Amino acid sequence: MSHGAELQEMVGLSKLNTLCVSATAKYYIDVESLDDLHNALALAQKKGHQTLVLGSGSNLVFAGDFDGLVIRMRIAARYWEQVDDTGATLVLGAGENWHDAVLYAAGAGYRGIENLALIPGTAGAAPVQNIGAYGVELCDTLISVTALDRESNELVCLDNSECGFAYRDSLFKRSPGRYIISEVRLRLSRTKPLQLGYRDLEEYLGDTASQDMDPLTVAEAVMAVRRRKLPDPEMIPNAGSFFKNPIVPSEKFDELQTRYPQVVGYPQNATVKLAAAWLIDQCGWKGYRNGKVGVHNRQALVLINHSGGTGADILELASEIRESVQERFGVALEMEPGVVGG
Ligand code: EPU
Repeated sequence: MSHGAELQEMVGLSKLNTLCVSATAKYYIDVESLDDLHNALALAQKKGHQTLVLGSGSNLVFAGDFDGLVIRMRIAARYWEQVDDTGATLVLGAGENWHDAVLYAAGAGYRGIENLALIPGTAGAAPVQNIGAYGVELCDTLISVTALDRESNELVCLDNSECGFAYRDSLFKRSPGRYIISEVRLRLSRTKPLQLGYRDLEEYLGDTASQDMDPLTVAEAVMAVRRRKLPDPEMIPNAGSFFKNPIVPSEKFDELQTRYPQVVGYPQNATVKLAAAWLIDQCGWKGYRNGKVGVHNRQALVLINHSGGTGADILELASEIRESVQERFGVALEMEPGVVGG
């Protein structure tokens, strides 16, 4: 195993999840290579420990301690492949910081992921929930994912169509624990159109919006827009959007619109994606605080751990929010982060 890969016991996880919830891992190991990963899994199997692969903990809630082996994914790699006149393939190790990769790619003049600036987390976690923002999703540029398939114990390369991507969803999310992502490949371009049409971004750019913009300038605009509404997890512990925007049949949207003409929804074929933030906001939750945990005062979709809240406190607040939205609008909200431990 490499230098970092030493087994530790009873490791506190509060700094390893962006909600800063206290939890303890019975065993913990950093992995920096595929060899480290194989060794960690072999150890877990020998000792009968359950495992949890952790990136930077930006999309999960620890409901309690983890009574097994936490494997912190730290495989580092960042390089270009197949560079030609119009584009290049960016290869990222699973442990790479996502936002750093965005700045690296945009700084080199490549388009494709600039709208995904400032999304917390690692490159390896990005395909799991198919990260998306400002009209762009990871699946728009992803070519393939390399992952260890724990059913066959083999390294597999899954191309985009095999990853089963949908809105905040993927094969990896639907088969929890089966795949451990080690590498992602993205096809970036020097020429593809910039996506500048998302309302907040369009308003921010105003007359400066142009297809000639440098992708780094777009990334910087996205960062400014995000900072206006979304709390920085380094300062205010949170896990980003806590619920998915629910997708409902058009008839349901029509019925809601009759009762609430201001309801926010984005039509897609015979369905409408509702703005969960609007529904939660209308139920009066924005800025709510019950001492330890609360709802962000500028984005109702974001739950905050103000001071010493536990995972259970966060989950209890989430369930109160779900109940009130269900009762008032008849719409079920689905949580975005995964729940582990406890
Ligand atoms: N709105 C409210 N109240 C609020 C916030 C928003 O009524 O407190 C309304 C706004 O007026 C707006 C609508 O809700 O019309 C949508 O809000 P916003 O544009 O902020 O986007 P969102 O749908 O709430 C999604 C993603 C974010 C992503 C933004 C920008 C999901 C679950 N969330 O939020 O992703 O940054 O769009 O593309 O799809 C994340 O996944 O962690 C995340 C932050």
